[in-house]
Amino acid sequence: MQKGASTTSNTPRCLEVPVGAMFDRIAPTYDLLNHLLSLGRDFAWRRRAARVLPEQGALKVADLATGTGDLLIALLRERPNVTETVGLDLSEAMLKIGQDKITRGGYADRVRLVHDDALRCGLPAGDFDAVTMAFGIRNTPDVEATLREIRRLLKPGGIAVILEFSLPRGAIMRWCYLVYLRLIVPAIGALLSGSKGAYRYLNESIEAFYRPDDFCELMRRTGFSEVSATPVTWGVASIYAGSKPNGAGDA
Ligand SMILES: C[S@@+](CC[C@H](N)C(=O)[O-])C[C@H]1O[C@@H](n2cnc3c(N)ncnc32)[C@H](O)[C@@H]1O
Repeated sequence: MQKGASTTSNTPRCLEVPVGAMFDRIAPTYDLLNHLLSLGRDFAWRRRAARVLPEQGALKVADLATGTGDLLIALLRERPNVTETVGLDLSEAMLKIGQDKITRGGYADRVRLVHDDALRCGLPAGDFDAVTMAFGIRNTPDVEATLREIRRLLKPGGIAVILEFSLPRGAIMRWCYLVYLRLIVPAIGALLSGSKGAYRYLNESIEAFYRPDDFCELMRRTGFSEVSATPVTWGVASIYAGSKPNGAGDA
């Protein structure tokens, strides 16, 4: 695993919640809990997010907050034209598990993992055909700055694909989901991961995050065009996509 460039340190700055340390703690049980708490739907969500990428032409992709690499692996499976990827994350423990899975899956020649902060990473501007982020943007202390960083990394015409939890629109589904999120998720999370805080943080951060329409508006304000939000599984997650306009600079 490669250490990030000059912007990197073991303790990245300006985080309101020590997210890297939190994910280091829960890394050993992260994948199991992720699949269990989403009732296995997370596989299909990542597959669907991966399919937003074009099928033609060699693609270079950055996956921010890559964690244990599941979105990267879905991308490499679904899109053989993804020839080169960089997976970036704050948590070394998550990356270590990701590296093992990537090596076991035979994808290592197309993946480089970097320990760095998505908010101010050392990756070069305008270098990527696509930038992806699954369940990561909600954890960053400045969502707008993260979107600006995603835009900076993209080539003009490149696409951003962001998968993030959301709340169902329908009142009944929303009520059921909130009961699940507030009571069941923290209890199972604490039991299996040993971290009460992490899974309490999960439900609080989901409830505090932008509604899909507001997030689309934020993407437009940050300079993305052709912005869309696709709800999956009654809207408990949404896949956002947006393009960096052709002719746009790196700022
Ligand atoms: C919920 S996990 C998602 C991991 C993976 N993308 C997935 O689909 O399972 C969130 C990840 O975001 C990372 N993360 C949070 N804030 C970050 C930041 N500012 N820069 C880089 N990674 C960050 C955490 O370390 C953690 O691995």
